[in-house]
Amino acid sequence: MLERTIFTTLPILLFGLACASARADDAATRPLQAQAASLAADYAGRLKAELSGAMEADGPLAALSVCHEAAPAIAADLSRSSGWSVARTSLKPRNASSAPDEYERAVMNSFSARIANGESAAGMVSAEVVEQKGHRVFRFVKAIPTASNCLICHGGDVKPELKQKISELYPDDRATGFKLGDMRGVFTLQKILDADQK
Ligand code: HEC
Repeated sequence: MLERTIFTTLPILLFGLACASARADDAATRPLQAQAASLAADYAGRLKAELSGAMEADGPLAALSVCHEAAPAIAADLSRSSGWSVARTSLKPRNASSAPDEYERAVMNSFSARIANGESAAGMVSAEVVEQKGHRVFRFVKAIPTASNCLICHGGDVKPELKQKISELYPDDRATGFKLGDMRGVFTLQKILDADQK
């Protein structure tokens, strides 16, 4: 547990230092950014544990169902316990209820443009305060790169029995055809900063 904390906070600290000059409001929002990054790392860690546990125990077909149940449940659990909204989204979502809002779509489009220019999706982050429906909202978006073990369910050559199960669970699935290193999607976190005043 301690090790995990060190491993998740160290990159955040380093990232914070590397981007110290990125934005004028960085100093004020840095604690929020660190919190969001740590929650995203927590979500990633719990997803990975569920997914690789199920893959090893019962194979990808069973892991599909685990992912179907566990991914939204972990996001809901983290959101409840933290007071943030914690989720994943994608320009090509599998779960239609994970479709992006306008803000997320714009951030992902800008990430895609940077990746097309040769930047790596790994570690790509956007963090800022925006005005949203009369509230000040802190929004944090972090790219999720496609690793080789993601291709089984998100690649261009998904096995027919998996493909069939995927379309049963997700009739509108758009999340195949990804290649190694592509941005599969993003973690998206938000927190209303002036909730108490309204
Ligand atoms: C066993 C099959 C399987 C594997 C392997 C897998 N995924 Fe998924 N993925 C799914 C399923 C099923 C969903 C939909 C979950 C839900 O209902 O929210 C999903 C959803 C997602 C989403 C949320 C947005 C969306 O499209 O709905 C992201 C992001 C994502 N996967 C990334 C990855 C990454 C990165 C990897 C590799 C580390 C990976 N997945 C490996 C099955 C898989």
